[in-house]
Amino acid sequence: MCGIVGYVGTQKAASILIEGLKRLEYRGYDSAGVAIQQEGRIDVAKKAGRVEVLAKEVARRHFSGTAGISHTRWATHGGVTDANAHPHLSSDGKIAIVHNGVIENYLSIKKFLLGKGYAFVSETDTEVLGNLIAYHYAKETDTKPGSRLLESVRKTLRHVEGTYGIAAICIDSPSEIVAARKGSPLLLGVGEGEHILASDAAALVSRTRNVVYLKDGELVQITPDSFSISTVDSLEVSPVIDQITWSIKDAELSGYAHFMEKEIFEQPAALENAMRGRFSEDGSTANFGGLNLSATDFRQIDRLVFASCGTGWHACLVAEHLIERFARVPVEVDYASEFRYRNAPLDRDALFFVISQSGETIDTLAALREAQRKGYKALAICNVVGSTIARESDGGIYQHAGPEIGVASTKAFTSQLLISAMLALYLARLRDMSYSDGVTYVQGLKAAPDLVRRVLDQAPRIKEIAQRYAQCSDFLFLGRLSLFPIALEGALKLKEISYIHAEGYPAAEMKHGPIALISERCPSVFFVPQGELFNKIVSSMQEIKARKGKIIAIVTEGSDLPAGLADETIWIPDCHEAVLPIVATVPVQLLSYYIAVARKCDVDKPRNLAKSVTVE
Ligand code: AGP
Repeated sequence: MCGIVGYVGTQKAASILIEGLKRLEYRGYDSAGVAIQQEGRIDVAKKAGRVEVLAKEVARRHFSGTAGISHTRWATHGGVTDANAHPHLSSDGKIAIVHNGVIENYLSIKKFLLGKGYAFVSETDTEVLGNLIAYHYAKETDTKPGSRLLESVRKTLRHVEGTYGIAAICIDSPSEIVAARKGSPLLLGVGEGEHILASDAAALVSRTRNVVYLKDGELVQITPDSFSISTVDSLEVSPVIDQITWSIKDAELSGYAHFMEKEIFEQPAALENAMRGRFSEDGSTANFGGLNLSATDFRQIDRLVFASCGTGWHACLVAEHLIERFARVPVEVDYASEFRYRNAPLDRDALFFVISQSGETIDTLAALREAQRKGYKALAICNVVGSTIARESDGGIYQHAGPEIGVASTKAFTSQLLISAMLALYLARLRDMSYSDGVTYVQGLKAAPDLVRRVLDQAPRIKEIAQRYAQCSDFLFLGRLSLFPIALEGALKLKEISYIHAEGYPAAEMKHGPIALISERCPSVFFVPQGELFNKIVSSMQEIKARKGKIIAIVTEGSDLPAGLADETIWIPDCHEAVLPIVATVPVQLLSYYIAVARKCDVDKPRNLAKSVTVE
């Protein structure tokens, strides 16, 4: 949510910043801007609209400076206008700042600054921050050379309530950036004669793979040849330099039309990566290196509590189903945003889990911290290495799905489902699951990548179906048991990228209200796996058919679905029960994707959304 890029080095900063912003655009795309240090000035270019609009303006102005900061915005305070776009200049023209997050006490700071003669041209909380830095900077005349901007930022942050990732430059110090974070991600890329700051590794991996993940409460001061990290309380920090393991190619379209499409087709590989090295030698259970709890600890646990947001929350619901079904351990699932405030009573021996692709979702992070504050171990299933949730959790499981750029989560979701299935297996084998059932389960999981490939092979057919239904006004997604969460996920995918109203329900629940929506323009997507509830689901389909509702059925190959009941059929291969949610997800991802494309929607940057939601 909002992307920051900063650069100091020997190359022209503007093109590096624009390239970085393009890679971060999925974090926010309301407006974008750069501030470049050149010839004793700070030149600012900023525009409402996409980074492409800014790129044209930057090219027109031929910026030549070798230091600068930039931003792509997801609006919180103030509408989408050029004036509200970042960077913001302090009213004395000395400081430029970009900011990701929300300053909660900005109104009282603004009142104070207005009293001191500072002026404001935007409605943002960020401009308040920039002017407060300028205020302290004006007073810091005795500070030793080279520390004046740093100390001004530090003093400012001591007065600020809220969350921030910021980067600031000062007109008097042409090769220096000071940045800080609290609640918003920020990384430092350590290059040869250059340093680069970014909200996400995607923006800097083309220049360096050596990174320092800043922690909350830390400030970093960078010049082309040096960097130093300290805390808001003025303590020095010894940096740990990590290596990014993926390459720039992983964050490029590589011939696909959209990142969402690419990521849907990357799912077999993502599933393989999630499983790699994680099965026991005897092939009967899963092993996880980073849980930091012994088998004995796990046996003490009498309940698991999962919390997450959006698609991750759907993965939690699948985890609930699989863990209760196979390990017979009770599981509760909460929205992270609710858990943090509702002061839920937890059992003495509960274990807390969060699921987050980005590892930066503020509601999920807050839920994790709340569980830890209550004294619970809190573990995470997370994709982004070094993210805040990955670092703050007491242990966890990395997904290794690779960078996910499309705002609509796809490969991260199925990878979370697979890891949930592996966790269910691990817990089940600690309890009542036999060796041979464990072996069958592991073989079932290992088949998942190939089964997903078989569903992907149907993409052309699913595209044709999508084109026939692309102009519908509403959709129902209906599934039972482990496929009820997939119905929710199908509905979320469709509405977030195509703006069609869609709802997910347990199939039998449909007759208690949603059936009123049924019309020729409101088709139902039914998940109809072969199994114990097959006949019940067929009855629900008959109820829709009787009301002239169109049906798209996702059906197990070889199934004996009555002829003519479904208007469209998409086949999924027969598979182990633990893999069913994964193979059933792929058709609804493809259906949503192709519907959005047919409606000419901006699939990777849907309106009003941002990939990683770092504000409440
Ligand atoms: C998924 O398609 C969504 N864009 C969104 O619901 C997302 O899953 C949610 O914001 C949680 O993100 P996280 O997994 O990065 O924490």
